[in-house]
Amino acid sequence: MAHRIAAIAGDGIGTEVMPEGLRVLEAAAKRFGIELEVEHFDFASCDYYLEHGQMLPDDWFDTLSSFDAIFFGAVGWPEKVPDHISLWGSLLQFRRAFDQYINLRPCRLMPGIKSPLADRQPGDIDFYVVRENTEGEYSSVGGKMFEGTEREVVIQDTVMTRVGIDRVLKYAFELASKRPRHSLTSATKSNGISITMPYWDERVKAMAKHYPDITVDQFHIDILTANFVLHPDWFDVVVASNLFGDILSDLGPACTGTIGVAPSANINPEGKYPSLFEPVHGSAPDIAGKGIANPIGQIWCGAMMLEHLGHEEASKAIVNAIEHVLAAGPEQAPLTPDLKGQGTTQTLGKAIAEALES
Ligand code: NAD
Ligand code: IPM
Ligand code: MN
Repeated sequence: MAHRIAAIAGDGIGTEVMPEGLRVLEAAAKRFGIELEVEHFDFASCDYYLEHGQMLPDDWFDTLSSFDAIFFGAVGWPEKVPDHISLWGSLLQFRRAFDQYINLRPCRLMPGIKSPLADRQPGDIDFYVVRENTEGEYSSVGGKMFEGTEREVVIQDTVMTRVGIDRVLKYAFELASKRPRHSLTSATKSNGISITMPYWDERVKAMAKHYPDITVDQFHIDILTANFVLHPDWFDVVVASNLFGDILSDLGPACTGTIGVAPSANINPEGKYPSLFEPVHGSAPDIAGKGIANPIGQIWCGAMMLEHLGHEEASKAIVNAIEHVLAAGPEQAPLTPDLKGQGTTQTLGKAIAEALES
């Protein structure tokens, strides 16, 4: 039976990398005899907002619920629509309404890419950030008081629930138990944030009792960011709250050369709702329209989506094709400028699709 995929390109380079993601997905589908039925949507973009006064149509939940997965580009164009409106009106709604409580973000130094960290080789950086994706610092609970006066006050609460923490920890521990090193790192800030973060640590300790084979470390987020740069080889599975996970999942990929290669999977593990696959990066207004955005983040998302849909071999073939093209280096392969090459979004997308076909 065909898998029904909702494709939402969004804004800026989202519209440029999406066709390359689909090109490679289609090449993989053809090679492995997978049937994909892709439907395109123009909502969840700032142009849609300017035309309709909202980011999504009223029936978006029912429309998207009927798909097996959502393939997403990037959203946001602050000059047209303030970010908190465009993001809370789209991506952040999807994550919550579809209970995509896991945001899985692999971070791997690929062959052929030079890390900005001295002397780091492929193999030295190879970990997953598991980000809590529906609560925490993103809880949108709070308000403004005494507005317009000198005594204006703004408050935004962090909401952490036992169920919310335990389910993301369980996922991270399960992932760690499938990885060769069996190691898990938890990011908190329990010395400064005195209620929610110690609670998270307490839940980590409780969960660790069920996984005696996993080595567990806990770092405060400040020194953890330093260790990402100094000792990226220490990490295997890093689990973090919504905000800390967001920050770590830009820092990690930057250590692997460019955030342009980083994918993410917003997963509803129970499969009650569709999961959403999107690159870690945003709409990049500074390079949008130039055709030079790196499409690998989007393409790798296609691999994660196929794995989620049960096609592990096809998923691996996409990652192999990415690695094959990257390994050729900027002299031989049409790598984009963030990879020190002179290729374009399209030529790099085509090269990866061809590597997959051959
Ligand atoms: P960004 O990720 O869009 O860009 C940061 C920097 O990285 C820019 O210099 C950009 O050129 C570069 N970059 C990003 N992706 C690249 C790629 N594929 N190839 C080469 N270079 C790339 O982050 P930002 O500037 O903070 O945000 C821009 C807009 O995107 C904002 O509206 C923001 O809210 C939104 N955003 C959306 C998402 C998402 O949809 N998931 C994620 C992050 C930011
Ligand atoms: C990401 C993005 C989003 C986030 C923004 C655009 C709301 O940075 O997916 O990492 O913070 O989750
Ligand atoms: Mn982010």
